[in-house]
Amino acid sequence: MRSDAPADAGFDDPLADRVNEARLATLGLLVAGLVHEINTPLGAINSNHDVLRRALGKLQDILADEVVEPHELDEVRRIVRAVDGILRVNDLAVERMRGLVSNLRNFGRIDGSGTDMADLHEGIDSTLAILAHELRPISVVKEFGELPRVPCRPQQVNQVFMNLLMNARQATPDGGSITIRTARLGDAVQVQISDTGAGIPSGQLGRIFEPGFTTRDGRIGMGLGLAICRQIVDRHGGRLHAASEPGRGATFTLHLPLVQPPRIEETVQRSPDRTEASHDEANSDTR
Ligand SMILES: Nc1ncnc2c1ncn2[C@@H]1O[C@H](COP(=O)(O)OP(=O)(O)O)[C@@H](O)[C@H]1O
Ligand SMILES: [Mg+2]
Repeated sequence: MRSDAPADAGFDDPLADRVNEARLATLGLLVAGLVHEINTPLGAINSNHDVLRRALGKLQDILADEVVEPHELDEVRRIVRAVDGILRVNDLAVERMRGLVSNLRNFGRIDGSGTDMADLHEGIDSTLAILAHELRPISVVKEFGELPRVPCRPQQVNQVFMNLLMNARQATPDGGSITIRTARLGDAVQVQISDTGAGIPSGQLGRIFEPGFTTRDGRIGMGLGLAICRQIVDRHGGRLHAASEPGRGATFTLHLPLVQPPRIEETVQRSPDRTEASHDEANSDTR
């Protein structure tokens, strides 16, 4: 059955392995940035810890006497205010670290590899958070519309966002901008990622989705990003295309259908251990 339909081989295929490899490679590249991201709030907490310890020491000194003088009371009030401020900063720092860890967990979640009704904005936001360090010199504009949940493999769709955003960042000089627009268009959702970078020469536009096509200096795994994106999007019954005005930037437009081919609906609505027969039913429905 499968060999009759190579272009519709479902999700249980080597693509998943390739996507995982690509995700691991991307995460590897991002580790340095993430370490930096976590180090900043951690450093703040650490130095605040010293300040808190000194504040406590002063309070203990003041309270060591039987009698607290009026001028000492002022000092106590000052210390209490300072401690309050420090705790606020620490709250923010802890929140920031928690957010980073949770985004990282969402992005690489193993139990999230199945089909789901996904909130694409959530996926875009967690991808942006993971890329925060890389994207810092670029302004990111979000023009989010109203989106319903989309039946998809969120992990794979996040990989598409990651690859497109990384490419946009790599093409865009510091000070440029990346705009992410989302909208519902009838029975589909549209996500558009535009950058103000170098753009793509018209002669190359038709080749960028080819596996191995790259204009970057050869490094392992290069030239696969867009090929993987396109495969993922094809498997979702969606479309991905690029447009560019060389010198002024590029726009990648992703469409994902809200009504999935029957097989994907199967995995959304039924238990994952569906039978081969239901695969076949689904196949015959689509053909
Ligand atoms: N946003 C973009 N702006 C300009 N060129 C791009 C953009 N995205 C992709 N490209 C071009 O497409 C090529 C292929 O991209 P990709 O498949 O992600 O591989 P890689 O990033 O490893 O080169 C890139 O080398 C680059 O020339
Ligand atoms: Mg790339």
